[in-house]
Amino acid sequence: MRAMAFCAFGGPEVLAPVALPVPEPGPGHVRVAVNHASANPADAKTCRGLLARYITCNFPFVPGFDLAGTVDAVGPGVTQWAVGDAVFGTSRVGQGANGSFAQYTLADVAMLAPLPAGISSAQAACLPTAGTTALGGLTDVGRLCAGQTVLINGGAGGVGSIAIQIANHLGARVLATCSVHNIRHVMDLGADLAIDYRTGDVVAAVRAQCSDGVDLVLDAVGQGTLSPQADRLVRRGGAFVAIETLICEPDPADVARAGAAGVRVVSNMVAIDRLPDQLRRLGDLAAQGVVCAPVHAIIPLRDLGKALRMIETGHTRGKIAISVAG
Ligand SMILES: NC(=O)c1ccc[n+]([C@@H]2O[C@H](COP(=O)([O-])OP(=O)(O)OC[C@H]3O[C@@H](n4cnc5c(N)ncnc54)[C@H](OP(=O)(O)O)[C@@H]3O)[C@@H](O)[C@H]2O)c1
Repeated sequence: MRAMAFCAFGGPEVLAPVALPVPEPGPGHVRVAVNHASANPADAKTCRGLLARYITCNFPFVPGFDLAGTVDAVGPGVTQWAVGDAVFGTSRVGQGANGSFAQYTLADVAMLAPLPAGISSAQAACLPTAGTTALGGLTDVGRLCAGQTVLINGGAGGVGSIAIQIANHLGARVLATCSVHNIRHVMDLGADLAIDYRTGDVVAAVRAQCSDGVDLVLDAVGQGTLSPQADRLVRRGGAFVAIETLICEPDPADVARAGAAGVRVVSNMVAIDRLPDQLRRLGDLAAQGVVCAPVHAIIPLRDLGKALRMIETGHTRGKIAISVAG
């Protein structure tokens, strides 16, 4: 089968086309014929070896978390899925297996959900990692309720673009940070206010809306962009949910200061135990038309390096889908 793999850690240039044997599903696994994957910052980090303490890469290693495709074979004892089922979800790359930047990949039965009705394969492939992180951060961890105000830091990116739509659907007032050229994008997704973080004072803009601070911040940027101001952005009793970048987490001193101000600072990442439920909830929201992944570009598998270079700028809009079958 065709795949994109790397044989040494490095930048996107280490990715090269390879021919590999089609993987055989073991107990509890299915094989998916991948139509589309999508590019995530975690894929670039995997290539650079920055996630080596989480993922053991045996070379040649095929990265790729997200997928949409068709069940092609099922392992012994698998009854949940049948050959021909259209699915979306995540590969076993987090367990050190080859991922979804390949014609075929393996997935755990629980890490797939039915392809949402009316959603394209490219759209569905853009949902799993960004969407479950947004959904989990806002609901399971952030406990966002109707009538509350949420600030989404990084509103134009993969996680942020989906989070705006979910928060809007939950009946929250949505503030979102972005660059000036992305203001229209975040407003079209349902933000009530876009804050240009490059030229404006985010704390002042938030305080102008909510004098005591917002109920919740979902920080999809990290790198210390907002966490030092958590105590001034969030009201007493509220929460600052930091999406784990896995390379730079909030400074413990900032967390302690926020705690002293009555602000709960919690981290959020894709959690294996919550993922099956989150994927199904996300699929339902997508099928209802509540959530759509804004697909900024569809790039062929052979140009995966180009997609990861775009991701590494830190300024892509929405999501980049990877066309595998086409
Ligand atoms: N641990 C996990 O399970 C998990 C899961 C998902 C994501 N993550 C992490 O969460 C982060 C975000 O993921 P993603 O998929 O949303 O990334 P992404 O799509 O690459 O995010 C790019 C966006 O970030 C915005 N941005 C960059 N700097 C900003 C700043 N200072 N303030 C506001 N916005 C800024 C850019 O908007 P402008 O161009 O307008 O500046 C751009 O649209 C990544 O570090 C990723 O690895 C972790």
